[in-house]
Amino acid sequence: MCDLGHAHRHGESYGFLVDTPEIRALIDATNRLRRTIAADAARVEALRPAFATLLAADNWLPDSCARPDETSKMGGGIGQYALYRAEDGSLCLFSLVVPVGASTPVHDHLAWGLVGIYRGRQDETVYRRLDDGSDPTRARLEVAKRQQLGCGEFYALLPPADDIHYVSTISDTASVSIHLLANDTACVWRHRFEPATGVVTPFRSGYANAPCPPDADGTRG
Ligand SMILES: [Fe+2]
Repeated sequence: MCDLGHAHRHGESYGFLVDTPEIRALIDATNRLRRTIAADAARVEALRPAFATLLAADNWLPDSCARPDETSKMGGGIGQYALYRAEDGSLCLFSLVVPVGASTPVHDHLAWGLVGIYRGRQDETVYRRLDDGSDPTRARLEVAKRQQLGCGEFYALLPPADDIHYVSTISDTASVSIHLLANDTACVWRHRFEPATGVVTPFRSGYANAPCPPDADGTRG
């Protein structure tokens, strides 16, 4: 499941890395709605009840997927744990553990989905992009909104709207957020941003508990 430092064979890195009825119910509902609703916004809206049910349920997330990861590529001990991954890269469910006082880098997600708080409390800062995105190394950003989110609260992602943000844990215990996103988020090349300088850097965050496929340059995530 979420144990670190253990060699995964290919078959163990995809599908239900954490196999519980609660996770299966959400993934089944997602796949049903992917077949029946073509528009991302309508599909995400229809998914809200199933996602809320998972956030409200207890005892489905192993402790090993709810702890910090000192080897994190995001820094700050932030842990990202795959719970479900579609083998074709079209869907994933993961937990993100942000230790007390830590913040993620400013980053994007590049996929529609839902993100909600399972434990603790987060402060989220969302950025609006002011340039046209034509230079892959630069971005002009301004803060669009800030919000605080507690247990059971969640929001939809429909990129490019509101897709660039960072979150900080403001509770006195680590925050754990649950992400259902329509890509293999930790393994796709996405971006980290430095709003003060405008610098954009490609990054692949990686899962703590599952390898990424070999990249074009032969490296592994
Ligand atoms: Fe995020």
